[in-house]
Amino acid sequence: LKGICHAVPRDFAPDPLRHTANDFKMNSGTVRGIVARWTRRCVLDPLLRLTISVEASLTDARFVRRQQLPADLSSRILFYPAVAIERLNRGLGDRRQDLLFDRYADLNLVHYGPSGRGYQAVAGSDSSERLRRYRGQSSRLEYFMDCFPELLNFNNGDSFLEFGCGTGQNIRVLAERFPASRITGFDLNQDAINLVRECEDHDGLVLTRGDITLEDSRRSALAGGVDHVVMCHTFSLLFGRSRLATEQLRLNILFDLVTAVRKTVVVIDTFSGVERPKIRIEQKQRGIVSDDLLRYFVKLQNGRAYTVHSDRSQAVVFVKDALGLPEI
Ligand SMILES: C[S@@+](CC[C@H](N)C(=O)[O-])C[C@H]1O[C@@H](n2cnc3c(N)ncnc32)[C@H](O)[C@@H]1O
Repeated sequence: LKGICHAVPRDFAPDPLRHTANDFKMNSGTVRGIVARWTRRCVLDPLLRLTISVEASLTDARFVRRQQLPADLSSRILFYPAVAIERLNRGLGDRRQDLLFDRYADLNLVHYGPSGRGYQAVAGSDSSERLRRYRGQSSRLEYFMDCFPELLNFNNGDSFLEFGCGTGQNIRVLAERFPASRITGFDLNQDAINLVRECEDHDGLVLTRGDITLEDSRRSALAGGVDHVVMCHTFSLLFGRSRLATEQLRLNILFDLVTAVRKTVVVIDTFSGVERPKIRIEQKQRGIVSDDLLRYFVKLQNGRAYTVHSDRSQAVVFVKDALGLPEI
């Protein structure tokens, strides 16, 4: 900003005798705006148009050949470089994804571990602050409970298990609405579990620390069966050391859930329509995976899966045996 101010005509320069601080802000804002518009129009847009035009020619060269359409000379010349670039891009993209999976498979555990950033603020706070935090939390599950009660089929007396319950955002709502239910919270992080244990006085509350990606830990939580399993913004954190390992792990987890559950599995998260899991960096020590969750359920039997939306999330609801619910 300083550099820009020095370069503008004298009238725009701050003069404490003639200009107020607001004048200066407005003027330098205007200059910044002019420079930004000029840079966009004269530098960025032409560069972007050039890359789009190159990409269009390469894509078209592949398209023409694959569809066996009549090809002009430039299309014929471009075909081989176009295929080479496509393969290189795909190869590099896949390799980069696998390296990210490998990196974040460890780092996510650190993020939610004892000294990770995940629950840094929870451990140190005093008891009134902890209670305020617990009671002030909002639940993403609540919206789906209110809007899709027939689909979720939650009833007082049913048993619930939330994998990745965190500080009990959903546990609090389940406890309030279903006083006769057994509600189990399961999470990796001890500080989060301690907060729920301290602040929630529901009679049927059970809390367990564990890692859902470990078969023994997951199966022992599911032993004996449960009416409803909930997973809320946790599925996107579950992945293996590669794309392939992630697909297998996710299928194994969902298989165990649909096998053990008696009524519904509710997975709330942000999903994508891409066919294969894709990881992105969200924080230094937290990677997030999105993929098309419904396709896993296609491979799983004994029920039907539905997708429903809120303004903040999506949910895939698997209904065991789905008696009385419409075909999809
Ligand atoms: C984004 S928080 C979601 C918390 C809560 N369910 C909600 O709706 O706000 C994700 C939670 O999943 C837990 N988590 C992450 N990986 C886990 C794993 N492998 N096993 C068990 N819990 C895990 C984290 O400790 C964290 O509490």
